[in-house]
Amino acid sequence: MKSLFIVLDGGDGAGTTTHSRLLKGFLESKGLKVYLTQEPSQSKIGILIREFLKKKEIPPTTDALLFAADRDLHYKNEIKNKLEDGYIVISDRYLESSIVYQSVHSDKITIDWVKEINKFVGLPDITIILDIEPEIALARKGDEDLEKFEDPQILNKVRKLYLLRAKQEGYPTISSDDIIELVQEKIQKIIIEKLKTRS
Ligand code: TYD
Repeated sequence: MKSLFIVLDGGDGAGTTTHSRLLKGFLESKGLKVYLTQEPSQSKIGILIREFLKKKEIPPTTDALLFAADRDLHYKNEIKNKLEDGYIVISDRYLESSIVYQSVHSDKITIDWVKEINKFVGLPDITIILDIEPEIALARKGDEDLEKFEDPQILNKVRKLYLLRAKQEGYPTISSDDIIELVQEKIQKIIIEKLKTRS
């Protein structure tokens, strides 16, 4: 059976959640089996992480280790099984979020260390980066209770690193500045091509 592990990643407010949902609907309309998931996951570790996202006093290393533990559980107990059952899995955020956010969060955290603590999980077949200017992203959020990474300075660094990583790793990058339909169409085109090369 033909499975595919897709990740949509990018800075806060780039629309990974909206586009993951739309992509699921699109692929299902083509008769494909799709499993949509996200990180932080729904596990107890994921719930704890969401609580910690509101707390500035949590050490960045603790965050990094928790995200890695959440991913380990998420991949091994959920994603892997779905892929084996022939589903197309779409994850709204995955390893690239940890590489970017955790290394930006502290000078002591290197990309190599983040990769090391995440080295036992399976890698996506394709990661698509959605790119957005932090000012626009934060304006979209409005006045809601912001999480610790939802800060213009942090998000500018996050954006730069996503773009650099995309260049280095060859991840397709799409500007999320356009209207949703147009951005989604670009994502769908990339996935259709990817599915063709796998069949
Ligand atoms: P987000 O997708 O913004 O969740 P929601 O839309 O439900 O608030 O993710 C929460 C935050 O967690 C976001 O700022 C990115 C951060 N994050 C990391 O720092 N490392 C990670 O590994 C992941 C998955 C997310």
